[in-house]
Amino acid sequence: MRPAGLVAICNEIIHGRRTSIVECGSGVSTVVLARLLRQRAIAGTVVALEHDPDWARLVNQLLADEGLSAFGRVVHAPLEGEPTWYSLSSLTELPETIDLLIVDGPPADQPGNGQRRAPALTTLQPRLSETAVVYLDDIDRPGEQSVLEAWHANTNWTFTVDAATGTASGRRPSADRLPD
Ligand SMILES: C[S@@+](CC[C@H](N)C(=O)[O-])C[C@H]1O[C@@H](n2cnc3c(N)ncnc32)[C@H](O)[C@@H]1O
Repeated sequence: MRPAGLVAICNEIIHGRRTSIVECGSGVSTVVLARLLRQRAIAGTVVALEHDPDWARLVNQLLADEGLSAFGRVVHAPLEGEPTWYSLSSLTELPETIDLLIVDGPPADQPGNGQRRAPALTTLQPRLSETAVVYLDDIDRPGEQSVLEAWHANTNWTFTVDAATGTASGRRPSADRLPD
């Protein structure tokens, strides 16, 4: 995720009072968001799904080294099924209710993998709170653009593309949302 996208998500956590954060695809962003939660004394957590066991271990070690394990953790979630996505059994490790979902994995940059992030919204939708916000990264790529088209066609979520951050952010229609 580019720095501008991460800044947008940090702003969403602060101003949107997001506390139950799930990230598909772990990395530096997981550590930065956990740091933000601690720095702002926010009673929240970021839980990241990660398909690569070595990367999951490394990011969890980075979190532990900074004393951030109470604020962030990575769940190893092998890819499976068709369309290929994180194993459904790993989802038991996620919070029951999510108010911020960041879709930055699985990796979808190789030819033929452009649709890999599509299952995120449909699979996790039942856990998303009425006021949840979803960020899809890498929206400058044709694959993510077609994922967004499919989400618009098949769900009632509305997304706005921000070319400056390389993300699209989406919410349910306001009529469907409970008051904040
Ligand atoms: C787009 S990256 C996720 C990046 C993460 N959300 C961030 O912004 O730091 C998707 C996948 O690439 C792998 N990955 C991320 N950062 C990496 C790095 N620095 N080196 C190797 N693999 C990496 C992980 O398997 C991750 O799930």
